[in-house]
Amino acid sequence: MSILSELKDRLRGPLAKLDKQPEPLLEMVRRSQDSKFGDYQANFAMPLGKRLGRSPREIALDVVTQLDLKDSCEVVKVDGPGFINLTLKDEWLAERLSAAVTDPRLGVPSVETPRTHVVDYSAPNVAKPMHVGHIRSTVIGDALCRMLRFLGHAVTSDNHIGDWGTQFGMILHGYRNFRDDAAYQKAPVEELARLYRLVRRLMDYHDGKARLPGLREKLRQQEDALAVERAAAGDNLPLPVGERAGVRGPSSAAPKKAAKNLRRAEGDLAQTRDEIESLEASLAAVDADPQFSTLAADHADVGAAVLAETAKLHAGDEDSRRLWREFSPHCRDEIQRVYARLNVTFDHTLGESFYQDRLAATVQDLIDRGIAQESQGAVCVFLEGQPAPMLVRKQDGAFLYATTDLATIEYRLETWRPDAILYVVDHRQSMHFEHLFATVRRMGITDVELQHVSFGTVLGSDGRPFRTRSGDTVGLEGLLDEAVCRAGRIVADNDDAKPGGPELSPDERVRIAERVGIAALKYADLSQNRTSDYVFSYDKMLAMNGNTATYMQYAYARVRSIFAKGNVDVEALRASGAAILLGTPAERALGLEVLRFGEALDLALLDYRPNQLTAYLFELAGCYSTFFENCPVLKAETDALRTSRLLLCDLTARVLHKGLEILGIEVVEKM
Ligand code: ARG
Repeated sequence: MSILSELKDRLRGPLAKLDKQPEPLLEMVRRSQDSKFGDYQANFAMPLGKRLGRSPREIALDVVTQLDLKDSCEVVKVDGPGFINLTLKDEWLAERLSAAVTDPRLGVPSVETPRTHVVDYSAPNVAKPMHVGHIRSTVIGDALCRMLRFLGHAVTSDNHIGDWGTQFGMILHGYRNFRDDAAYQKAPVEELARLYRLVRRLMDYHDGKARLPGLREKLRQQEDALAVERAAAGDNLPLPVGERAGVRGPSSAAPKKAAKNLRRAEGDLAQTRDEIESLEASLAAVDADPQFSTLAADHADVGAAVLAETAKLHAGDEDSRRLWREFSPHCRDEIQRVYARLNVTFDHTLGESFYQDRLAATVQDLIDRGIAQESQGAVCVFLEGQPAPMLVRKQDGAFLYATTDLATIEYRLETWRPDAILYVVDHRQSMHFEHLFATVRRMGITDVELQHVSFGTVLGSDGRPFRTRSGDTVGLEGLLDEAVCRAGRIVADNDDAKPGGPELSPDERVRIAERVGIAALKYADLSQNRTSDYVFSYDKMLAMNGNTATYMQYAYARVRSIFAKGNVDVEALRASGAAILLGTPAERALGLEVLRFGEALDLALLDYRPNQLTAYLFELAGCYSTFFENCPVLKAETDALRTSRLLLCDLTARVLHKGLEILGIEVVEKM
């Protein structure tokens, strides 16, 4: 059990006497921000005092007198208005550290009641190359699976790839009209990707042409709206400072509001103008390419043709199905290459196509049970409190993304009987999942936790969704290549600068660069609060200092290097049973931090946030730095001290290693 859970356990009894629901109050037991207030702090007396109409200090004292913490705490103290501050005993910490030395789980026990989870992540729409948008779902999902497994939960990972949608209509159309047979024979994956891009470009061109007049009209209206706001703001402009002191106008909020409206109108206009400009530029680029513009002119109906291809596939057209069966493995190979580099695996990749012959029955069942209704030829589920219904069958009989997701849930429940299904999917789909989950509850399925583990957008340095200079989405493989290439330069520079000259062979440099580059990319994502957007930056993610994989890998390699330098037999060290001494503040702080590993994992899984684990590992690395600066290890004053410090180094390295592994990040022994 983690220290925190143990402290909470001890506090639960006395608290339960004061409040029937002690759990939310126990959430207020935390690590102290400042060590002068002890190691852990409980703040629940304040809200509890308010609720009970008693003095918080009295409550805190009341709880403390009932507490039995003699074995683990040196000091149990009530401070200020009612903070309970706990300082752990050094011997108690040392004992736990010694136990961790011989424990492959580093003192983190498996959970007492394991649950079964299905984790749905990555899920690209195949038949088109993976792009930057897929990185978050893939690495967050993989890290969550690893964390859950480490804690002893059962996990089934299922990559719900989009292999049945319009993008297949696109490659079918491309294959039938534009394929290069020789190229397809030689390298099918590349040829299919080329066909996808070609059809995409044709569709975008005609789409753009059709959109342009509407956008221009919108611009005109926004110009009018701006003129109105300008006039309003002009009448209400805030008075110059000197005149403001005395009387205020009837409402000082009015000018502020007008200025705000004006800014908004200006922003809207600028956005539309940008949109028109970039659209015009891309249309002009096509027009300047005679070959492509002829092609575009010959295929003005490409959008409709693609939809027709998709419909034919769905309707069971034999030749379309045959081609789909032929393309599908190539598309899977393509994504598999990326997963292999990212070191990400799945138990299953069933994909949307897997559920197609279940959809009709799913919809019929919803109708029969009165959950779904026909409305203007379509079938919908109307949900309380939702402005729009969830559509499960279109007027033309086609099924939707949501229909497949319903059938998928039914299948997963039947097959794996999970306690929880986690969907690691972009925040833009939150409405979809809200509807989906509400429908599932209406179906009477209540005994499964359904979680949309949503995440924000990856932004470029301009603060907008990350795109290439020409406005295309950024391919994932290119991103990996670039990160590895830059990591290569860092590894080389670092090696060249070593006091005794370079130590790494060219082969080693290549291998290390791949690990460092991929790790940087993954860690940069995992270390962000998943619900926020973040700005993508190679420089930041590969920085040797700060909360980056590069820094963490370097910290690990540095700890490991001590053992090589001191010629230490690590196995013998661990088996020695030697005491761990926590005589100085730096040693004690490092020891306590090592023991917080389980706590960090609990925190990370509480609401599925891997950044809780990266933050912990970063703090651990920081404690190690302080320790290393203050406490000589190989040159410690006594043998006992040397051994104890080596044990602390070893524990630190093992926690870093395990923690990074749980995040899906590989360490390097040398850098
Ligand atoms: N393929 C979908 C997309 O790219 C994501 C699927 C997520 N999983 C799910 N069960 N809906 O948007």
